[in-house]
Amino acid sequence: MYNSKIIGLGYYVPEKVVTNDDLSKIMDTNDAWIQERTGIKERRYVVKGEDTTTTMGVKAAKIAIERSGIDKDDIDFIVFATLSPDYYFPGPGVLVQRDLGIKTVGALDVRNQCSGFVYALSVADQYIKTGMYKNILVIGSEVHSHGLDMTTRGRGVSVIFGDGAGAAVLSREEDTSKGILSTHLHSEGQHAEELALIAPGMGKRWVNDIIADNNPNDESYLPHMNGQFVFKNAVVRFSEVIMEGLTKNNLTPSDIDMLIPHQANLRISQFIQKKFRLGDNQVFNNIMKYGNTTAASIPIALTEAWEAGMVNDGDLVVLAAFGSGFTWASAIIRW
Ligand code: ACO
Repeated sequence: MYNSKIIGLGYYVPEKVVTNDDLSKIMDTNDAWIQERTGIKERRYVVKGEDTTTTMGVKAAKIAIERSGIDKDDIDFIVFATLSPDYYFPGPGVLVQRDLGIKTVGALDVRNQCSGFVYALSVADQYIKTGMYKNILVIGSEVHSHGLDMTTRGRGVSVIFGDGAGAAVLSREEDTSKGILSTHLHSEGQHAEELALIAPGMGKRWVNDIIADNNPNDESYLPHMNGQFVFKNAVVRFSEVIMEGLTKNNLTPSDIDMLIPHQANLRISQFIQKKFRLGDNQVFNNIMKYGNTTAASIPIALTEAWEAGMVNDGDLVVLAAFGSGFTWASAIIRW
């Protein structure tokens, strides 16, 4: 039995900054409303034709691989988490295999929205723990900007999301007191439609109907969110899944050196911070700069925290996420 350890991290965000004031010029919103409700000041959007979910993932992965010190040809497997793939199929995992020029290793796509990266990490961790693979590339990347309703109708959702990518290289760790100690995954599908994008799911409409009734105002093509319901569930599930992980490892909240919550909303992070009595240097938030980047938010935040010297050898690092599905997850890591 082995553990898996993160040996390289990287992130990439597009250069184009979109501030709350920029949004207020195209829809009825304002900086004060957005900051007060979400903490977001600005987010990044890809420039059409310049970047996709895959190209951003590849850029983040190149940095993570270089920092890991391993050669790309030593990667045994790829796991890619996203809700915004370039193509409906095939998924972006194989595109990364192609674009990085990695030999014909397996590539798996994970569709678990905001908890996608923690789910992906958990999958990779199991392959390494059993000895099946030694080095796995895990990516979370999203392009939200192309799919948002940028009119006042969509403002409750659109102002929250941004584009970006993060990546981690996981490698076999022989010392089982180090690396990923445990992961915890949950779902509650009865709330699937509370935070969802219905089309182009095959269950919604037949293709001939879509051709016959090409209606640009069809709201099933836009993300829908019951914000207050999501908020209430998020704060409960975040707390539960963090405690589950700590308890499993005979730890308590006071043992946490760094909590990286999925960057859903600053108010959710602050709620968790207060509940677990963590100091400002024990919780990392960057939603102010990037908005909510779904599956990319945790690897971007973890990379920035590591780059800032806030994640060090021996630290107890906790990753936690909640999102559409509903799904929620945590990872308990001894760095
Ligand atoms: N700008 C200005 N006004 C707005 C905007 C906007 N962008 N969006 C909505 N409003 C208006 C509404 O129309 C409404 O107006 P009314 O009172 O005249 O009808 C008013 O603001 C209040 O709307 P609510 O939806 O009730 O706003 P709320 O206080 O619930 O805040 C928010 C919305 C921020 C989404 C909140 O519900 C929330 O934090 N939810 C948590 C969900 C979340 O964080 N999701 C992130 C993505 S999912 C994930 O990652 C887990």
